[in-house]
Amino acid sequence: MHEDIVVDLIAGARPNFMKIAPIAKALDRLGSGANIRYRIVHTGQHYDARMSGDFFRQLGIPEPDINLEVGSGSHAQQTAKIMIGYEQLIQSSPCRMTVVVGDVTSTMACAITAQKLCIPVAHVEGGIRSGDWTMPEEINRLATDAVTNWFFTTSRFANDNLRRSGVSDDRVFFVGNTMIDTLLQNIDRLRPPGFWHDAGLTTKGFFVLTLHRPNNVDTPDTLGRWIEEIGKHTRGLPVIFPVHPRTAKTLSALPTVPSNFRCVEPQAYFEFNYLVRHSLAVITDSGGITEEATVMGVPCLTLRDTTERPETVETGTNELVGCKPEALGPYLEQVLSGRWKASGIPEMWDGKTGERIAEILPRLIGITQ
Ligand code: UD1
Repeated sequence: MHEDIVVDLIAGARPNFMKIAPIAKALDRLGSGANIRYRIVHTGQHYDARMSGDFFRQLGIPEPDINLEVGSGSHAQQTAKIMIGYEQLIQSSPCRMTVVVGDVTSTMACAITAQKLCIPVAHVEGGIRSGDWTMPEEINRLATDAVTNWFFTTSRFANDNLRRSGVSDDRVFFVGNTMIDTLLQNIDRLRPPGFWHDAGLTTKGFFVLTLHRPNNVDTPDTLGRWIEEIGKHTRGLPVIFPVHPRTAKTLSALPTVPSNFRCVEPQAYFEFNYLVRHSLAVITDSGGITEEATVMGVPCLTLRDTTERPETVETGTNELVGCKPEALGPYLEQVLSGRWKASGIPEMWDGKTGERIAEILPRLIGITQ
């Protein structure tokens, strides 16, 4: 009887959970014959039920085997705590490979820690770049990819970025998008949030708004200007605003929000994506939401100057509005007059990415099936 080979799946913050779910499921399907076992390591970067536990429950992800419970802090504090916790874990109970996903602080901290202990790293969603070094996620992407052995990529843009930075093609696997696997697996389970009727929502009769990037939400002045501009150009249609904890702090300092705004708690996965699917458009500064909106064919207005996901603009429903609130009006006008661009689905976003990754992983660890 062989001893199981352990692979760590790292998850720390909300956008990680939907990315590990299909990988865990696909590894489960490989079955015990594959001799490969995964361990879910939650760093605890996000810890509220609404930012974390709800996602595990709804998406059927097994409870984390380990929770490092790092909690809030500055980026340096979170990075340091995650590294210390993960180093202790690997030293006391080693794994044979560390799989990190996305671009959050937990991704970078665990990748560096593993590689320094000579544990190979695979990065799911590797290679994407915004080119904007003011975004902490871009630093996380650069640092993670510098110590990654194998890259599972979501787009040809990512492959090109990696090639340009000197990564050889045999380390890059263009497999598609695990976040879209999760969306397609759950599309029939999406359901309206409890406030649907109370808020007077009707299909294609409201907007969804999410904001959490430090440069948009960390000062009342900037956040207030965005909100005012959105209020001015949405013709009184409801704007459903699930407020991220980071944004809540600044929002509470604003004297008022427009009367068509409905500020709600962060939503669980089924409810949030139901809202997106049935909305007229999404206004956001998130990256992942631009991908989900693209697949659901919903117009997406991104309040950023750059994107690390250019396929959502070239092929999908996304447009970059930029960082100046006064630029938003004409985009909302296009939505309201039904003149949004035609769109399609990016290559390989077909719901089978987790399976592709699970097929490749054993080969990388040296197990031939
Ligand atoms: C993080 C990720 C970002 C991701 C976002 C999604 C990094 C650098 N950023 O940003 O890429 O898009 O998550 O949500 O990793 N807080 C709570 N409850 C929680 C989690 C956080 O109240 O469950 C508070 C924290 O105390 C902190 C603030 O929210 O004050 C921000 O959390 P933090 O983990 O620092 O980063 P995010 O802004 O969430």
